[in-house]
Amino acid sequence: MALMIGIPKETAAGEKRVASVPEAVEKLVKLGFAVAVEGGAGDAANFADDTYRAAGAEVLPTAAALWAKADIVFKVRPPSAAEVALMREGGTLIGFVWPAQNPELMQQLAAKKATVLAIDALPRQLSRAQKMDALTSMAGVSGYRAVVEAANAFGRFFNGQITAAGKIPPAKVFIAGAGVAGLAAIGTAANLGAIVRANDTRAEVADQVVSLGGEFVKVDYEEEGSGGGGYAKVMSEGFQAAQREMYAKQAREVDIIITTALIPGKPAPKLISAEMVKTMKPGSVIVDMAAEQGGNCELTEPNQAVVRHGVTIIGYTDLASRLARQSSTLYANNLLRLTEELCKTKDGVVNVNMEDDAIRGLTVIKDGTVTWPPPPLKLPAPPSKPAGAAAAPAPKGHGHGSSEPMSAQSLATVFAVGALALLGVGFYAPASFLSHFTVFVLACFIGYMVIWNVTPSLHTPLMSVTNAISSIIAIGALIQIAPPLGGATGDRPNGLILGMAVVALVLTAVNMFGGFAVTRRMLAMFRK
Ligand code: NAI
Repeated sequence: MALMIGIPKETAAGEKRVASVPEAVEKLVKLGFAVAVEGGAGDAANFADDTYRAAGAEVLPTAAALWAKADIVFKVRPPSAAEVALMREGGTLIGFVWPAQNPELMQQLAAKKATVLAIDALPRQLSRAQKMDALTSMAGVSGYRAVVEAANAFGRFFNGQITAAGKIPPAKVFIAGAGVAGLAAIGTAANLGAIVRANDTRAEVADQVVSLGGEFVKVDYEEEGSGGGGYAKVMSEGFQAAQREMYAKQAREVDIIITTALIPGKPAPKLISAEMVKTMKPGSVIVDMAAEQGGNCELTEPNQAVVRHGVTIIGYTDLASRLARQSSTLYANNLLRLTEELCKTKDGVVNVNMEDDAIRGLTVIKDGTVTWPPPPLKLPAPPSKPAGAAAAPAPKGHGHGSSEPMSAQSLATVFAVGALALLGVGFYAPASFLSHFTVFVLACFIGYMVIWNVTPSLHTPLMSVTNAISSIIAIGALIQIAPPLGGATGDRPNGLILGMAVVALVLTAVNMFGGFAVTRRMLAMFRK
């Protein structure tokens, strides 16, 4: 029987987002679900009850009615104790839960024999999970909004202008931490015309900063900041001292600082000291996006905008909610994609498949049993380090899977054995076999050389372009259609062969042009 998805009004103070929007509701209905919405749930995000009704949802008057009726509840914020009390025994909840921070809530939900999918526990490293990654979509909205808040509090233009009334220099913006939110802020500030600089402890983001129109400012200290899974780690004392010096210099120079630096499971690193704030120009602005985790600036007050030493310091923790229509739409799409994964049969029934890595990661409680934290993900080994990078001691032996380059000696041995084997084949095999065999060996060699040095992330585009090129079999069909060279017109093949050759040609053309088109689109994803 088709299940009912319920969308209650968010109860956290000031929360304007809603867990699904009419456009997504329509698609949930197409997946076979019944959908119910609490009256007024979308009001703060500008989605009226009628638009939900038009999308096929039933609008229920109270939260109690909704929680009682829904088999699956979609939420944005973790539910309050009162909401859990309304929940049906054995029901399913999907939304932000933050199991590590909310042990009590986890117990209450487990006592309800609930199944809980925490969208914040999604294994973001899986490329398949990206469409469901609400942390990324919310961080993107927040980064954009942080710049808008900064612009609102800042007394000047972002872009430089030459007007009759005088020359206006562009604003200088410094972004601390270039993760998802930081990168969104860089793009937005650069689009407004500001000069944007950014810093991150993970060196790999430097290119992304530049591609969005920013300048990457390095800390004058060699230390890699990656702590695994794309996240940062706590840096050494030496690094922190060098970083403070660089940040102090930036604070004196720039007009706006937006800080986004976070380390999973740790308080936010304190990057902007009270001293640095003092040295900033009057009228400058700091937006501290890490306010909820203790703040990157010493003077930040969470949820408030305060003025200290002539600098406005904004510590709002509801940046995504301040752009409620946008964030709700993106969040609704993330949950819709998740629902599609849960209901592959499109019959309004969910299957929480614990064998699926993405679903396993998300599921923090299954039928009342706490299943969080999940076992570590088995990810493919990262690409080998480029030459020159500090290498770990090399393992001995040349077993399977060892990516050690061959020594010159063993390479020579391989070549010698190969040459001898070829010579042997040449002596004994018939001539026709030899020519085919040579082509085969050369093809293997070229194929190996072409593919071996391609970074793993480009393997999929490489496959599609290979697929397109392999459509060269079209030549076979072309030969069938064309009269043989020097042959009379009477040598044309009969109608059936001709027809089949034309069909083959059309199909190969689809493969060829389609393959190239797909490759182009995939490669475009790597360009900025
Ligand atoms: P986050 O919100 O935990 O941290 C924000 C940024 O602050 C990070 O870039 C971090 O390196 C930086 N940071 C931490 N300490 C710092 C310090 N002391 N000084 C300067 N910067 C500091 O991270 P977020 O934005 O949620 O994701 C981080 C990265 O993970 C992103 O680059 C993102 O692209 C990547 N990611 C990768 C995924 C994947 O592997 N498929 C999925 C999602 C995100």
